[in-house]
Amino acid sequence: MCPLLLFLSLFLSWTKQTLATDPSMPFMEYLDQDHLVCLKWGYDNLQGHITFQLVVNSTGWVSFGLSPNGGMKGSDIVIGGLGPDGIYFTDRHATGNSMPIVDEQQNYTLLSGNENEGQTTITFQRSIQTCDDKDFHITAQPIKLIYAYGTTDEISYHGARRGTKEVNLLNYMPKTNSANAKYLLAKVDNITVPPVSTYYHCKIMKFPKLNTKHHIYQIEPVIENYDVVHHMLLYHCPPFVTEPYDKQCYMGDVGDACFGVAASWGVGGGVYELPENVGIPVGGEVNDVFYRLEIHYNNPHNKTDITDSSGLRLHYTAQLRQHDMGILTTGLISLSKLKLDIPPKAPQFHIYGICNTTHFSELVNPVPNLQVFAVLLHTHLAGRKVRVGHFRNGKQEGFLGLDENYNFEMQQTVNLGNIRTIQQGDEITVECTYNTSNRNEITKFGLGTTDEMCLAFIFYYPAIKIKSCISHPNTTYLSNNRNDKTPGDTSDPDEIAEYETVLKTLPQVQVISSDMKFSIHPDGVIRKMIETPTVACQNLSYSVSGPNGNASSKLCTSWIVNTAGIIVLLIWIAIM
Ligand SMILES: *[C@@H]1O[C@H](CO)[C@@H](O)[C@H](O)[C@H]1NC(C)=O
Ligand SMILES: *[C@@H]1O[C@H](CO)[C@@H](O)[C@H](O)[C@H]1NC(C)=O
Ligand SMILES: *[C@@H]1O[C@H](CO)[C@@H](O)[C@H](O)[C@H]1NC(C)=O
Repeated sequence: MCPLLLFLSLFLSWTKQTLATDPSMPFMEYLDQDHLVCLKWGYDNLQGHITFQLVVNSTGWVSFGLSPNGGMKGSDIVIGGLGPDGIYFTDRHATGNSMPIVDEQQNYTLLSGNENEGQTTITFQRSIQTCDDKDFHITAQPIKLIYAYGTTDEISYHGARRGTKEVNLLNYMPKTNSANAKYLLAKVDNITVPPVSTYYHCKIMKFPKLNTKHHIYQIEPVIENYDVVHHMLLYHCPPFVTEPYDKQCYMGDVGDACFGVAASWGVGGGVYELPENVGIPVGGEVNDVFYRLEIHYNNPHNKTDITDSSGLRLHYTAQLRQHDMGILTTGLISLSKLKLDIPPKAPQFHIYGICNTTHFSELVNPVPNLQVFAVLLHTHLAGRKVRVGHFRNGKQEGFLGLDENYNFEMQQTVNLGNIRTIQQGDEITVECTYNTSNRNEITKFGLGTTDEMCLAFIFYYPAIKIKSCISHPNTTYLSNNRNDKTPGDTSDPDEIAEYETVLKTLPQVQVISSDMKFSIHPDGVIRKMIETPTVACQNLSYSVSGPNGNASSKLCTSWIVNTAGIIVLLIWIAIM
């Protein structure tokens, strides 16, 4: 019923929001200019099903397809409707500009169909990977969607009632025209990037005063030196940060305490647009807040004479959206004094960070359900896979994030195919897999690109005060047995495996933090994660990470997270 809702939304802003909050189909596009043909869709994971809902302002037959070039020839088509004899629906393919042929194998399933106030709505589903060469191979690339419809239920030539639109179904990002929109600029000005491989620059700043609350809805990177700017994070500062400055990060300055991530960008990412029902609040009550812009410069060749003025352009609007967005940092952090390192010569070393949301009520009460819509995964150079498991009552519900082909050079914020609800009491486990085969020294956890991190930044609404929920194994339990030490210059796989098991079975110390408060829980356990689902076709074989190999690696790039906050925690834990 999209057109109807759009119409009403002119008067009732909540109706538009209900569009975006159908948890199983969070995405929506009109396929035509006149807004007579509306498509909604969503999916569970890339190895599962994709569900479509087609709403057309017509009571005749309606049709939708996936096309190689926008035309009919070679396209995968469904046709359906409600006729005098009830619902009809078929999976077809077109060999030319003629009646599409019914497929031998019907891979699309009709879930429902109805006709109401001159509109036909059909809801149907298929596997993302159907293993039928008559079906279109859906990838995380833009796909030409086609539609057509008739005025009666007799399927015949559509005349002008047809069209095409290019949409990326598996990596969808809404597009708001922001040409005349207002924006805030968080950037550095002509700073000198020193000739060192890892440099973090921090600028503590305030935005121009906005008297009323506004919502940021789009984050656009403004990058001057693409070869060295690796990630940018914008953090909220706590009230005790009251002075601006512009200098190297993590030198013990008060601004190191700004760690609530507000916005982010990672290398390889482009503009990130928030879903239409959420925004990042600025102005109004939060007017006097300082922000910290952190830019990580990766300069492995120690280039000299780099002057940089990169940053983020934050587009905002006075038309408030339904929810404030929050970013929850999860995963693992470690301190140098903890004996937690990745051994060299380990092709697949696993590290885990956990978050048990049962403890959230100590900092926030009541805890609302958190609706997760996107995730950004973050490791450094040795990271190969990141999986974020979601558990309820000890049982895994699914994944909040999954990247089987993690690529340090492609860190994007990925919108989830459906909205996942974290209820209080649910647990989150972040698993990072590292390959240190080509390293001769142990790898520490830390800020440098040759150190490691294991983080998942979870984008959700409505925002709560909790900023991070991370953990580390309690290595004070380690004895001085040889097996409890990080294997150093060994390539003995058994020794590496034993150390990995020791770390995994130690009690895990969880640290949950809001701006000003922490809560610590020493007794966490790492739950067993299910295997990543795979699809095996007899003739075609698709990789587990998705149709094009990096579909699931679309980490929400525009939102890099919270290195800085973590530092504060690290310092704090170190004191403990
Ligand atoms: C489509 O149909 C709905 C329901 O009858 C109506 O509210 C809407 O205005 C129509 N849209 C257009 C663009 O005509
Ligand atoms: C940065 O350098 C450019 C070129 O030298 C100059 O035009 C600009 O005014 C400088 N910006 C600031 C803020 O100093
Ligand atoms: C680990 O890295 C080495 C060297 O780069 C490579 O040959 C090997 O295939 C990788 N192993 C895994 C399991 O990724």
